Amino acid sequence: MKTTISVIKADVGSLAGHVRAHEALKEKCDEILSEAKDTGVLEDYYITNCGDDIDLIMTHHRGEEDEEVHETAWNAFKEATKLAREMKLYGAGQDLLSDTFSGNIKGLGPGCAEMEFKERPSDPVIIFCCDKTEPGAFNLPLFRIFADPFNTAGLVIDPSLHNGYKFEIFDVIEHKKVIMSCPEEMYDLLALLGAISRYVIKKIYRKDDGEIAASVSTERLNIMAGKYIGKDDPVAIVRSQSGFPAAGEVLEPFSVPHLVGGWMRGSHNGPLMPVPQKNATPVRFDGPPRVIGLGFQVANCKLIGPIDLFDDPAFDRSRVLASEIAEYMRRHGPFEPHRLPSDEMEYTTLPEILEKLKGRFEDIE
Ligand code: F6R
Ligand code: MG
Ligand code: MG
Repeated sequence: MKTTISVIKADVGSLAGHVRAHEALKEKCDEILSEAKDTGVLEDYYITNCGDDIDLIMTHHRGEEDEEVHETAWNAFKEATKLAREMKLYGAGQDLLSDTFSGNIKGLGPGCAEMEFKERPSDPVIIFCCDKTEPGAFNLPLFRIFADPFNTAGLVIDPSLHNGYKFEIFDVIEHKKVIMSCPEEMYDLLALLGAISRYVIKKIYRKDDGEIAASVSTERLNIMAGKYIGKDDPVAIVRSQSGFPAAGEVLEPFSVPHLVGGWMRGSHNGPLMPVPQKNATPVRFDGPPRVIGLGFQVANCKLIGPIDLFDDPAFDRSRVLASEIAEYMRRHGPFEPHRLPSDEMEYTTLPEILEKLKGRFEDIE
């Protein structure tokens, strides 16, 4: 029997401002998921948060896009929203775009990453959850994990990785997808992946046998809603060891806090800081953007763990570097490239300002 991992996340209210989901909301989600476990919808689950986003990590035998699993997550977020409203938490229900569930949580606001596989004799899985950034934040680290031999030694020295991986890329603007193969198409692949706000990695498969290796949530909430209602803080599931990159190879790219879009008002570039869960509290200028990594062993559809993977002093230097980059970027104030280009900003007064100045613009001789 196959095992499915579904990670579904939403921001349904936080404290104070957009810093952290309240514990009571996670407890409410726990009640709903525990019922779903009792009735056999779920086999197991673990609930965490990164900043203001609650992440429901669920295992079951129902395959991807299962109506009952999605409805369970939806109900958990709905109930948590009621509580958030009572407590007047900030942004209560902000990621729920609809009042009613209609079969699949996709398109209703929450982000969703899923994968189904036949368990190996031992199956280590790493779940990454971000806050104050967007799905394209995973392009660079996932490329390095599955395609860069300077990151992943196994691509060179382990025959079971040596043939490479296939990348499924979504164009989130045109709603199209393409599968590209690495290393043969590496340069073409990078031409797309470098455009992080448009082309995002959805899934990665091992080329030898088509086995699923990674899955990312790609929902763009702001595009769905047609107006600013928060960034699309993403999650990712990555399998590791024995034919996949080792856990240490999976974590290694996060040691360099690369620049991602998000941060204050979803409108600034900043470094993605790898943190232990207790430090997933983006405070400075509502950031800088955070990523946590939780490691599980998946055993007979149960989640063993987690271990909080960035809770390692070896990542201290990365955090110091992220703080230094944050300091440097902040000095730019409202100037690009700290501020995102106008078409990527979540809040923009530019059209109003241009309208006001319309009569004052003159032709340049
Ligand atoms: C970014 C984020 C925050 C808010 C900011 C303003 O993803 O969540 O930076 O954009 O705190 O929030 P509002 O507009 O709700 O006052
Ligand atoms: Mg929020
Ligand atoms: Mg968030």
